Amino acid sequence: MQTANTLDMLRNALAELRRGGGSVGLVPTMGALHEGHLTLVREAKAQCDHVVASIFVNPTQFGPNEDLDAYPRQLAEDSAMLEAEGVALLWAPTVDAMYPQGFVTNISVSGVSEGFCGASRPGHFDGVATVVCKLFNQVMPDKAFFGEKDFQQLAVIRAMARDLDLTRPHVRDIIGVPTVREADGLAMSSRNRYLSSDDRAAAATLPEAMKRAIAHIEAGGDVAEALAALEAALIDGGFSSVDYAALADAQSLTPLGELAGQPARLLVAARIGGTRLIDNMAVSE
Ligand code: PAF
Repeated sequence: MQTANTLDMLRNALAELRRGGGSVGLVPTMGALHEGHLTLVREAKAQCDHVVASIFVNPTQFGPNEDLDAYPRQLAEDSAMLEAEGVALLWAPTVDAMYPQGFVTNISVSGVSEGFCGASRPGHFDGVATVVCKLFNQVMPDKAFFGEKDFQQLAVIRAMARDLDLTRPHVRDIIGVPTVREADGLAMSSRNRYLSSDDRAAAATLPEAMKRAIAHIEAGGDVAEALAALEAALIDGGFSSVDYAALADAQSLTPLGELAGQPARLLVAARIGGTRLIDNMAVSE
């Protein structure tokens, strides 16, 4: 596996990779890799001839009081994991390589980015859209792979790529990969490592309470009642607050008061022991 830290290194390595032909899959990450990321890499390997992974803790997607400084950084360990998975090229730029002196551009996606995490984390999705647009331009992959765990992020990236004409021929497909979960159902996340062992045990309340809410809604129960019971279960289970718990249209992310024949998603963000966890699950009629 080659590693590039500057744009010149990246361009040379990509030219070399492409010389032999074959498709390129991109797996963008912020590092602190876990099974969820490795599942993205495996999916990229299954669908593409060469896999490029990026590791960049993107400062522009963190708010002023968020965990940018504390965010786990373990490049050597991550790099060994990617190499073992058969990744051809690791793009690990410095902050200066990604945002050189004088960088003044911001990509802001309206609509899908506005509610939920967009409301709780102002500016977050601008940072995501801007860095992912840059990654697409830098690597020009045939396909790019993102986890459905960040469901709203995936919707924002799809909207950005569609609106900025990045989907064809530039990045042909954006592939959403289902969330990977721990044995007790907790969605894998780099932030789970912030949890104390008590909070980690209590965090399993989140997927359990979501499944109960979905069963209630799918059985024709009242959506508002199901969401109120979900929030109460989280607080009873040790969460300190719930940022949002909502049923939304799976495409537009418009909040829904009831199921209306279209694919829907239950979306939740809640805090436990100072850590903010997010999760989402499909809801069918
Ligand atoms: O999901 C992430 O890890 C990040 O938001 C991403 C897509 C790599 C952009 O920094």
